[in-house]
Amino acid sequence: MTAAKNPIDFLWFIPTAGDGIYLGSNELTRAPDHRYLREIASAVDRLGYSGVLLPTGVACEESFVTAAALATHTESLKFLVAIRPGTASPAYYARLATALDRVSDGRLLLNIVVGGSPSELAGDGIFLPHDERYDHAEEFFTVWEDLLSKGQADLNGKHIRAKNARLGFRPTQWPRPPLYFGGSSDAAIEFAAGRVDKYLTWGEPPAQAKEKIDAVRAAAARKGRELSFGIRLHFIVRETDEEAWAAADRLISRLSDETIRETQARFATESDSVGQRRMAALHNGRRDKLEVSPNLWAGVGLVRAGAGTALVGSPETVAARLREYQQIGIETVIGSGYPHLEEAYRIAELLFPKLGLGKAAKNENERSEFGDSAVFAGGGHSGGFRAASGS
Ligand SMILES: Cc1cc2nc3c(=O)[nH]c(=O)nc-3n(C[C@H](O)[C@H](O)[C@H](O)COP(=O)(O)O)c2cc1C
Repeated sequence: MTAAKNPIDFLWFIPTAGDGIYLGSNELTRAPDHRYLREIASAVDRLGYSGVLLPTGVACEESFVTAAALATHTESLKFLVAIRPGTASPAYYARLATALDRVSDGRLLLNIVVGGSPSELAGDGIFLPHDERYDHAEEFFTVWEDLLSKGQADLNGKHIRAKNARLGFRPTQWPRPPLYFGGSSDAAIEFAAGRVDKYLTWGEPPAQAKEKIDAVRAAAARKGRELSFGIRLHFIVRETDEEAWAAADRLISRLSDETIRETQARFATESDSVGQRRMAALHNGRRDKLEVSPNLWAGVGLVRAGAGTALVGSPETVAARLREYQQIGIETVIGSGYPHLEEAYRIAELLFPKLGLGKAAKNENERSEFGDSAVFAGGGHSGGFRAASGS
């Protein structure tokens, strides 16, 4: 397959709530300690990913602090950091975002997370019903944007009051860093249309994702705006399709039916997120019908909240599936895989060449010794050997 005419903007995920080899098992898990997260960030920075997503939630290491620490260990990686209106004032978030944009030399992207779990939100002091949370977010970002662009804001809103709010420094990316956002309800789509730069969807089948993208596009057009689009997907890529499907089976091989039942019941009662409901409806808690469209596997969502689908297959297969998403308007992919360090390498080594990314994009050779071939002889002290000509 030839390299893309329009290369995909490919980000990775920093697992700030922990990592593992098997879903739904306490064997071979990894804590999200800072040195591990640093290993992932420096690997993906070197491998040619354009950025990383840092989630927010009670189970996650705090996203701004983590991104600030990782920024000092990376060179060109961007940080898509979750910002949750309501957990702090817009003036405080304006200072946080500006400082992070400045210390990272303009590498900050923000992911607006309005939130989909009333019980978790209550812990942060937010008691608003679903749609009103978007009205609150609208007021929040009015103040936040005024501060970043003008250094000053005033608002006497229904949810937010700010009197003579001030900001001392401009962000490096002035008037503001790019705003990304995911949410599938009608209120979310209206909010996105008027406010954000990039709309993100979890990995729904292309036809369903297209419906949503068309709805967002139409809502934005009514407000005289244009958005770009991205998708959040897991990846299980191996050299052959058969190996990839075996790896998918292995990932959930220690997940019990009881754990699936308990987890799905918890999501159904604790979440009021339309996006989460759409994810759950793909598999309905059943492990026997997980390929929900060609090569799109819903096994992750049996136990993980949020992004619940993976593209599974050989590099050629998965690249072709990504092209289908590109055709419906998706430019950005936020990938992940278990465990996140090893899978970041696998995606960069197997899939990136098919997408014209990473080393393929920079036209770098795997090995650069004078006259040597690219045959790897095990890395012993006597070096490599020449491959027969034409091989
Ligand atoms: C790519 C993506 C990333 C998200 N990241 C988070 C997150 O880090 N924390 C969280 O609580 N919700 C996250 N969400 C959920 C949404 O922010 C949103 O709050 C939720 O889906 C409720 O919206 P809805 O009912 O309008 O669909 C994410 C959604 C998407 C699509």
